[in-house]
Amino acid sequence: MSKVEQTLSLIKPDAVERNLEEEIKQFFIKSGFKITKQKKVKLEKKDAEIFYKVHETKPFYNDLCEYLSSGPIVAMILEKVDAVSENRKVMGATDPNKADEGTIRKKYGLSIDKNSVHGSDSIENANKEINFFFKT
Ligand code: CMP
Repeated sequence: MSKVEQTLSLIKPDAVERNLEEEIKQFFIKSGFKITKQKKVKLEKKDAEIFYKVHETKPFYNDLCEYLSSGPIVAMILEKVDAVSENRKVMGATDPNKADEGTIRKKYGLSIDKNSVHGSDSIENANKEINFFFKT
């Protein structure tokens, strides 16, 4: 059954750098998400390595961690019924060139690396990622 969930969303350095922070937040709000917590941070590379640990064996891991720690990002907790899968729908495919019209990555993404947003891919990872940024 559908239930209200929380997921972790990041507005990545390429989007913050282009002043798209408010536009992307509005995109989520218009799509029915509540932003229940948010903060702007700049990660150290070692923090990015922890955040993206699931990708540590991938050839793009080092560049990915360099990139995520290259400038300020906005971390948000998004809340909605089925938030994890709903967020993945509004973000669109990882590669903006393959993302559907009307998605965030299609509209704002520059490349597979500079794809403007990150979203948790499962409830389990959402809990881990929320804890990473918002542990009290
Ligand atoms: P994200 O959803 O933040 O999760 C991992 C990121 O790795 C992904 O978005 C992409 O920006 C980045 N990435 C770079 N190269 C690849 C690739 N070949 N396949 C998947 N993700 C990639």
